[in-house]
Amino acid sequence: MSWSLDDIPAQDGRRAVVTGANGGLGLQTAKELARRGASVVLAVRDTARGAKAVDVIRREVSDARLEVAPLDLADLSSVRAFAAAQEAAGEPLDLLINNAGVMATPPRTTADGFELQLGTNHLGHFALTALLLDRLRGAPAPRVVTVSSQAHRLGTIDFDDLNWQHSYSPWRAYGRAKLANLLFARELQARADAAGLPLRSLAAHPGYSSTGLQITGPGMSGGVVGRLNALGGRALNLLVGTSDAYGALPTLRAATDPEMPGGGFVGPGRIAQTRGAVGLVSSTAAGRDMDVARRLFDVSEELTGVDFGLPAAAAAAGVAR
Ligand SMILES: NC(=O)c1ccc[n+]([C@@H]2O[C@H](COP(=O)([O-])OP(=O)(O)OC[C@H]3O[C@@H](n4cnc5c(N)ncnc54)[C@H](OP(=O)(O)O)[C@@H]3O)[C@@H](O)[C@H]2O)c1
Repeated sequence: MSWSLDDIPAQDGRRAVVTGANGGLGLQTAKELARRGASVVLAVRDTARGAKAVDVIRREVSDARLEVAPLDLADLSSVRAFAAAQEAAGEPLDLLINNAGVMATPPRTTADGFELQLGTNHLGHFALTALLLDRLRGAPAPRVVTVSSQAHRLGTIDFDDLNWQHSYSPWRAYGRAKLANLLFARELQARADAAGLPLRSLAAHPGYSSTGLQITGPGMSGGVVGRLNALGGRALNLLVGTSDAYGALPTLRAATDPEMPGGGFVGPGRIAQTRGAVGLVSSTAAGRDMDVARRLFDVSEELTGVDFGLPAAAAAAGVAR
């Protein structure tokens, strides 16, 4: 039988942070975790939209325990402020869902000068996870789920031009950011294992779901081109997209199923990983290259100035899982 929402174990007493929870997959993820009893922090860059998301969730889950907190992943000072507020609240964190993202944007940089997609999707979440690690350590069985994509298949990690200063392609940059998400999830697991931490880190992907993703980034070019790009995104959503509720299932399974192993990649199992039952799925060899994963982790620490305090596992080289 396919895994479904009914299989989510009770989440009472658990606390979750979901990034990008004001729409799309993040909102669905936050809603279902709250429905099962988790207390959920909606980490969003637009708190007014976050408040609307709370209303949407409470229409279905009237007793949902929700908070909205500001987080702009494209600005490390905002990431630090968010983490500091969580630290000050002093509560353990059971679940961190690194969900927010942008796709196929025109060339732009974050407040810290990183290419926007790598900066938001990977480096912002990388820093966030490091800064919340003490809160995660305070929970008995913490999990981190990082939302990747089938687009990791387009990705390469070029350490000589990680931030696309010499050339830029919106889709290849998205592919790189999503490959980085996947490698981060796997390397975090390797380092947690080496340190003896009871943390599970998994990646998930939704297949292709109709959300704002296909409209926001491509539309950012502005003008006629931007409008046409956004129109194309809407059309594709209508033609091939699954619902946002379906698209959130892999994240929810990765976050809550006791049988999903650390380092695993969870997604739809059929029709080029876009439909069907949700479970462990394959990635490209690049998505399993633990030499690149380890180096990317070290480089990401240098770029963001955060320190996980988790040394690389000794001699765990090569392609894994
Ligand atoms: N939909 C798909 O088919 C698909 C496929 C593969 C992977 N994914 C991944 O799934 C995740 C969720 O995407 P989605 O489909 O739900 O798209 P979405 O509806 O556009 O949601 C993206 C969320 O990310 C937030 N976000 C963007 N930039 C941010 C920033 N700088 N700081 C904080 N939040 C930010 C957005 O906030 P605003 O509302 O303020 O813009 C929004 O809440 C992404 O990581 C995406 O790469 C989606």
